Amino acid sequence: MKILQVSDQKMGGQAGYNVFAEALANGATVFGLATGSTPISIYDAITASDLDFSNAVSINLDEYKGLPGTHEQSYRYFMNEHLFNKKPFKESYVPDGMADAATETARYERIINDNQIDLQILGLGQNGHIGFNEPGTPFDSLTHEVTLTQSTIDANARFFADENDVPRYAYSMGIGSIMKAKQILLVAYGENKADAVAAMIEGPVTEDMPASVLQRHPNVTVIVDAAAAAKLTNREEIVPFV
Ligand code: GLP
Repeated sequence: MKILQVSDQKMGGQAGYNVFAEALANGATVFGLATGSTPISIYDAITASDLDFSNAVSINLDEYKGLPGTHEQSYRYFMNEHLFNKKPFKESYVPDGMADAATETARYERIINDNQIDLQILGLGQNGHIGFNEPGTPFDSLTHEVTLTQSTIDANARFFADENDVPRYAYSMGIGSIMKAKQILLVAYGENKADAVAAMIEGPVTEDMPASVLQRHPNVTVIVDAAAAAKLTNREEIVPFV
């Protein structure tokens, strides 16, 4: 794993942008994308640039079950707002939260198999989840319906008018689906991610800490700020991004 430490999220946006730009220059055509607050500065840097994704395909990690793409809290809506409206791709896949679970999860996994992801960006849940793969999700899981944990519902409640409006289920790429990507970029900021970052990089590889599976992937870059990196003990592994 390559660990880059940035001074703030704006610098993280630049560092992440560089990873995207390099992948594109090297011929990448399929980009796995993520939602959450963490990737926003990367999407901002991309939309402000002249990078051209009009021949590329994007595949998002996950979507809330039961929300249509027109709902302001749906991940499709988020992606349109933060990236696709300003930087269109040839095709942008996000799971259809309104579709039947068995049909949609099978369809989505086929899309991933037909379009191998060159670069997958990931945020990190406070409990170490990636996509919506909560602790205990098997490492060989494919796209599936997820029951969100209370901690994830609580973390996402800030975006909804009422906690009861937060969806309880989602469709998510599985950990096995994510590991099919050729390259992975995981980004984490803030002290509330510090435990998960340390466990992901230095802890045992275990299904109790979904992100720890990344220790088994051959090409992972991690972007962190000082607060998220605070609990790492191998400090010499951390490369400052300037
Ligand atoms: C949600 C998303 C994850 C994301 C996580 C962290 O649960 N499904 O993909 O990584 O939140 O979000 P944030 O970046 O806002 O901290």
